[in-house]
Amino acid sequence: MLDQLAPQAPDALLALIKMFADDERPDKIDLGVGVYRTNEGATPVFRAIKKSEQRLVDEQDSKSYLGPEGDMGFVEALMPYIFGEDASMGGRIEGMQTPGGTGAVRLAVSLAQKAGVKRIHMGVPSWPNHAQILADVGVETVTFVHAGDDGQADLGAVLGAIRGARPDDAVLLHGCCHNPTGVDYTSDQWAEIARAFAETGVLPIIDVAYHGLGQGLDEDVAGLRMVLAAVPEALVAYSCDKNFGLYRDRVGAFFMMAKHQDELPAIVSNAYALARANWSMPPDHGGAAVRQILEDADLTCLWIEELADMRARMRRVRERLAAADNEAPGLGLATLGDQNGLFAMLPLSKEQIAKLRDDHAIYMAGSGRINVAGLHAGNTDKFVAALADVAG
Ligand code: LMR
Repeated sequence: MLDQLAPQAPDALLALIKMFADDERPDKIDLGVGVYRTNEGATPVFRAIKKSEQRLVDEQDSKSYLGPEGDMGFVEALMPYIFGEDASMGGRIEGMQTPGGTGAVRLAVSLAQKAGVKRIHMGVPSWPNHAQILADVGVETVTFVHAGDDGQADLGAVLGAIRGARPDDAVLLHGCCHNPTGVDYTSDQWAEIARAFAETGVLPIIDVAYHGLGQGLDEDVAGLRMVLAAVPEALVAYSCDKNFGLYRDRVGAFFMMAKHQDELPAIVSNAYALARANWSMPPDHGGAAVRQILEDADLTCLWIEELADMRARMRRVRERLAAADNEAPGLGLATLGDQNGLFAMLPLSKEQIAKLRDDHAIYMAGSGRINVAGLHAGNTDKFVAALADVAG
């Protein structure tokens, strides 16, 4: 039986982590998987998380099971940051904890399918795992162009997808810090997107994996809030992997917004049943650490400060790259200054990406995506010179 299984290629992005680790060149640069790095190239545990974890060690009195919803204190503490002051939209939104943002996307797609969704429209390029999850759940993927060569979001394409959608379609959007392009919709564009969803009744699924890493905590979810204010129903996947630096602890949340408050229990019960059948309940530790931060004013201030420092550092890297447009022409570096978050796409060929790796020890995704957080004062000049070398 098991010998019938054909070998699968390892996930390209995760394979890159190992390739980088195996490279012994001391000046190697990792622009691959999406983790934040400091100016020293490290990915330290947040100070707020360290303090919170210490408190958990000292005070947590049980590790007994929770339900499929996980730690609801964690979920409810997050909600005002995501949805604003009326965080439950008059009792129409409820959430649950998930294993990372991936668990939340998986649940969103599975729940949409259970509700009758047959196809999901998705802007491309996208996070490669989006397409993999859709295929694995058994929902058809329909693509539209996310961004043009000019580094601007393609509003016509997303509006065409929403307005041309069938009644049993949903549309998946990135809330902020688009992965892999870094190109987000502007406020005016979000307003048009919200109007299109409202006028068509198409179900929005919004993935918020980089909240706070773009323009700010409120700014990064302003588009999401516009959509939610306009539509009857929506699904939201949320990740704390990046904005709390909890990558391997797998901390995420999934939110459902219903037309009416009294429809919510049935919707939520289906999500619980899916979670139970998939992973039973999410891992607790990281969610509990986040809850304690958000319940404590001092820890919350520390977390917001740490997040602001990360954002400011990535902005400086982006500005440095944008200013290097003349040094490595033809790669669109000038547009990087207007983009958000960890990622940007460079129009490099497979050969150029391989040359960067082989000749310069620079690792990036095969799509040409770079993680700008992998650059800092000590390696950006080398990166720009290498780009000039392969592009010249
Ligand atoms: C990435 O895109 O690099 C991150 O979201 C990590 C992942 O799971 O792919």
